[in-house]
Amino acid sequence: MDKFVIRGGKPLSGTVSISGAKNSTLALMPAALLAGGRFHLKNTPALRDVHTMAALLRSMGVTAELQDQVLTLDTTGVNVYEAPYEHVKKMRASIYVLGPLIARFGRARVSLPGGCAWGPRPVNLHIEAMKKLGAEIDLHEGYIHARANRLTGTRVHFDVSSVGATGNTMMAAVLARGTTLIDNAAIEPEITQLAEFLVSMGAKINGVGTSRLEIQGVDELHAADIETIPDRIEAGTFLVAAALCGGTITLTNAEPAHLDAVIVKLEDAGARVTSQGRSITLVAPRTLNAVDVTANIYPGFPTDMQAQWTALMALADGTSVVTDTIYFDRFKHIPEMIRLGADIEVKDNAAIVRGARRLTGAKVMSTDLRASASLILAGLVAEGTTEVLRVYHLDRGYETIERKLRALGADIERVAGEEF
Ligand code: UD1
Repeated sequence: MDKFVIRGGKPLSGTVSISGAKNSTLALMPAALLAGGRFHLKNTPALRDVHTMAALLRSMGVTAELQDQVLTLDTTGVNVYEAPYEHVKKMRASIYVLGPLIARFGRARVSLPGGCAWGPRPVNLHIEAMKKLGAEIDLHEGYIHARANRLTGTRVHFDVSSVGATGNTMMAAVLARGTTLIDNAAIEPEITQLAEFLVSMGAKINGVGTSRLEIQGVDELHAADIETIPDRIEAGTFLVAAALCGGTITLTNAEPAHLDAVIVKLEDAGARVTSQGRSITLVAPRTLNAVDVTANIYPGFPTDMQAQWTALMALADGTSVVTDTIYFDRFKHIPEMIRLGADIEVKDNAAIVRGARRLTGAKVMSTDLRASASLILAGLVAEGTTEVLRVYHLDRGYETIERKLRALGADIERVAGEEF
């Protein structure tokens, strides 16, 4: 297992190119199961989660090859309709194959994902929606067993706005007989891109980008190409890094419109942020203002940026409250940040962060993807040396983060191969 060794205290400056969005790619890849043919997904990031999804699709008979950020998928030979536990336990997004498999092949056997490092993450909404579309679903031996002749259009109202359940339901409904209405659909940019991809494959979807989707099922879809949107969480992480470390950085290949909530909060914290086309420049403030955030569904502040914001606020001038309304228990990074000298208390689903004068380096342990990112940020600004152990979490969602940070002037290295 690799670790990162960070010698903190260096300001960041320069330009960093943002990779394609992990969460978009993980939805686009299984969507290719909905038609036989050859797909090209441009701007695909070379991430561990993407390799995991590719391995899952290969186990079903898909050929998948990633070269120069272009992922070529050939779905002509799909002949296995199963997502085994061995894949799903590595990555919850494997559940995305459920809708496409039922819709196109009338059958699926998909392992239940189980919990996550920071708490329960149910898939009841996915399952209920498949049932409403007419699938017969049995849960036994840890698996979802699904069968259907042809799905039929229905009305789905999500009590909770869910990215994954919206994506899965959309992918199932595009091949159903008749019309499906999805109310309280997620409007995260990754879901909007999935809808656009499905439309380019021949699906009929009205209301793309809104919380009410009307899907007219079609008999058949065809292969298509798409360019993945920029990763708004990677972009937000670099912006927070620069605000925290000091300096001026410019992101290229980013999408400012997807980052409004994060940019406004960074400005409230004292940073100067300017956007032009696909680039965003941030000038760090001398003193960071304490700014509350509440993580919420899009276009709210992303839960996937909550841990990084906590790292920023750990050195702000004053006390701030970081609340998460999506995942109530997503605070596993806090005890590790406290080991670096942060003054943070967790109450219910909020972290009360009292800005400290300084953080000091220590060994800390990654527990999940975004927690790892927040510990790297804290390490970049801590005095002395910080070691972030178990960085494989980070490799799930950030493409060569250490190389990108080093190019901006950070002192960070990956130490490979040993068991830590
Ligand atoms: C996606 C993202 C993840 C992000 C999350 C919230 C991917 C691959 N992952 O995860 O990075 O943190 O959105 O923005 O895109 N819920 C239920 N029942 C369900 C499904 C969800 O109760 O069947 C609840 C969840 O517990 C959570 C809320 O709905 O409280 C939102 O979760 P959801 O949007 O589904 O997250 P994911 O799609 O798993």
